[in-house]
Amino acid sequence: MIKLTKVNKTFKDKTTHINAVVNVDLEVEKADIFGIVGSSGAGKSTLIRLLNRLETPDSGQIQISGVNITKLTKEELRHFRMQTGMIFQHFNLLWSRTVLQNIMLPLEITGCSKTEQIKRARELLKLVDLEDKAHVYPSELSGGQKQRVGIARALANKPEVLLCDEATSALDPKTTDNILSLLMKINKELDITIVLITHEMNVIRKICNRVAVMNNGEVIEQGDVQEIFNYPKHEITKEFVAKELVSETYGTKFKKDHSKKLIKLVFTNDSTRIPLLRNLVVNYGLNPNIIEAKVRSVQESQIGFLIVEIDSSFNLTEVRDYLKLQNVKLEVLNDAR
Ligand SMILES: Nc1ncnc2c1ncn2[C@@H]1O[C@H](COP(=O)(O)OP(=O)(O)OP(=O)(O)O)[C@@H](O)[C@H]1O
Ligand SMILES: [Mg+2]
Repeated sequence: MIKLTKVNKTFKDKTTHINAVVNVDLEVEKADIFGIVGSSGAGKSTLIRLLNRLETPDSGQIQISGVNITKLTKEELRHFRMQTGMIFQHFNLLWSRTVLQNIMLPLEITGCSKTEQIKRARELLKLVDLEDKAHVYPSELSGGQKQRVGIARALANKPEVLLCDEATSALDPKTTDNILSLLMKINKELDITIVLITHEMNVIRKICNRVAVMNNGEVIEQGDVQEIFNYPKHEITKEFVAKELVSETYGTKFKKDHSKKLIKLVFTNDSTRIPLLRNLVVNYGLNPNIIEAKVRSVQESQIGFLIVEIDSSFNLTEVRDYLKLQNVKLEVLNDAR
């Protein structure tokens, strides 16, 4: 649906030269909720702005639904933009217009009749659950409600793709979850492909099926969300995943105790359903002291980890073989002597 090939974007002036997007290859399938994660300045916003041609790449190809959008004429570009909705961190609503009028704006621009505009805007208000706020001004709305208006406005022209630039970063955790649920509903019910950028791995974990990690303008890793959470390859990806999954407590308190071996078991989907610890105790004579455990939902499956302390003399060879068969990854966190 969206395919980027060797895309580059540099910002230059007399003194500076910033490579904001570097050699990016990316593929988003229809109906994906595709997350792009990275720290500040990684190039996320530039990348998403390339997708609706608010920025033009210096080189490379961007294909959306088979059309190379870097080659569009002015008229084609106008039409293309209508098919791409976008929502922003700070909502970008017009303060002098009511909620209904804000949603009508893109329809006005496309030349819909007034009756059509009102009809469509009312449908959208219903979709985002704000029917009672039609005649209210944005200043009278909460952050979550403002973002709902932003979403309704972005969907006005029935786009195929919805781009979200840090759409939940200005919201508290509960409101974030509500907006994420709304995005999932839109993705499922309206079959809209969503590309969202965020610096929060929990947003990725909750709603995305695929993810790309950006650093210094480059996409350093991309793939299935579950795969990336379970087996992050790049150091930066590992840091993002670790922030979301692992707490710091074990590190300081237990890592220094060399009389004990500290091991971490990372388990996924199927392996969360077997009595793993019991099997290790009964069949392999492991004597574990549980330090920390966490299981998280990643979309419809679970992933988790368990950190246990065992005798430093315990030989892990057989346990390793058993865990491998169960699809559980074992890591020794401290090298006990
Ligand atoms: N219009 C511009 N002119 C000059 N430099 C720019 C412009 N837009 C972005 N940059 C630079 O490009 C780099 C990438 O910026 P970008 O906004 O894409 O990062 P980001 O990942 O979205 O960061 P954040 O998480 O802070 O929003 C930064 O170094 C930024 O300063
Ligand atoms: Mg940004």
